[in-house]
Amino acid sequence: MNRPFRPSRRRILQGAAGVAALGTVPRIAIAQSAPVKIGLILPMTGPFASTGRQISASCKLYMQQHGSTIAGRPVELIIKDDTGVAPETTKRIAQELVVQDKITVLAGFGLTPLAFAAAPVATEAKVPMIVMAAGTQVIPQRSPFIVRSGFTLPQNTAPIALWASQNKLNRVFTLVTDYAPGLDSEKTFVNRFKAAGGTIVESVRTPLKNPDYAPFLQRAKDSKADALFVFVPSGEGLAVMKQFDERGLKQAGMKMIGPGDVVDDDLLPSMGAAAAGVITSMHYSAAHDSPENKAYVAAMMKANPGMRPNFHSVGGWDGMHLIYEALKKEPKGSGEQLVEAMKGMKWTSPRGPMSIDPATRDVVQTVYLRETKMVNGEPWNIEFAKFENVGPGGNI
Ligand code: DHB
Repeated sequence: MNRPFRPSRRRILQGAAGVAALGTVPRIAIAQSAPVKIGLILPMTGPFASTGRQISASCKLYMQQHGSTIAGRPVELIIKDDTGVAPETTKRIAQELVVQDKITVLAGFGLTPLAFAAAPVATEAKVPMIVMAAGTQVIPQRSPFIVRSGFTLPQNTAPIALWASQNKLNRVFTLVTDYAPGLDSEKTFVNRFKAAGGTIVESVRTPLKNPDYAPFLQRAKDSKADALFVFVPSGEGLAVMKQFDERGLKQAGMKMIGPGDVVDDDLLPSMGAAAAGVITSMHYSAAHDSPENKAYVAAMMKANPGMRPNFHSVGGWDGMHLIYEALKKEPKGSGEQLVEAMKGMKWTSPRGPMSIDPATRDVVQTVYLRETKMVNGEPWNIEFAKFENVGPGGNI
């Protein structure tokens, strides 16, 4: 039989003594302030460590600027290294975060295969999973608890396909990393560029692990195409640019184009003048001219000397915005209620205006065309055109 809980007089007195022993802190306040635990799984070591460094830095900065409590609940960031392209490890870490740490939200995910690996854990545990970096379009379909704060490859590829077809680049050689986001990007570019009358000379794919770009770039040069279309995940751009430069593709008259991952702002200063003239489309440039971005770049560079914030960093920043705002609306919300609160959210990010499409739980945002230019001796991605409200499928 269920008996209603009625504290005895003795219990009440014990409780009162407990409150007295704790000074002025009432017991009820302790019970209410259960921490908000955010479990971030990120590449903190290995070839994709720049993604982890950028996202962990922007999440910490967000907390510094917006307070380390939400509706009276202290916020705790638990950062875990994914240890590389190891889906089973990410899945195990996600399970540990749920079972042992009892996290409120899962977040991070530097690479698509790792987001795929964690998706069933989010579904089973009914915890929101904020995908801050991985960019394959289908990711949110893998769990109703996924909300994306970064970007998709079709979104960032569609504008450059249009630009190429309108700017006398008739014959294009494509090079992408051989995994889901690379295939998303290749498919978007090839289909749209061909539909606009362009010719694809050849399409090659490089391995995700230990790629050697040299033979592919030599083949691209020998093809005498007008342009080389490149998608590589952030962290790989420097190696591609080095080969592009050393093999003299630019001098041979070949333009480098693509989504902006290849000229990401973290590595761009190390590329130097070799990157000048590259044309890309992307949702974020550290050179974006807005008061929100000027303040963001200054604060990130002050907190992390020598590090220029890149597009993954804003995925982290805006992911934290989603988490904070959802919890402000639903301070004790279940996983379902928090995801519901995130659907349709609209705000101004350092990248520009953005929102979460309630139907797909995916990001809708402005995508910019940019040219990499030397400014005061350093390369920056300078925006020169924009497409507003671009959805995850790359509608422009
Ligand atoms: C992915 C990772 C990246 O670093 C990037 O720039 C684009 C896509 C991914 O694995 O989805």
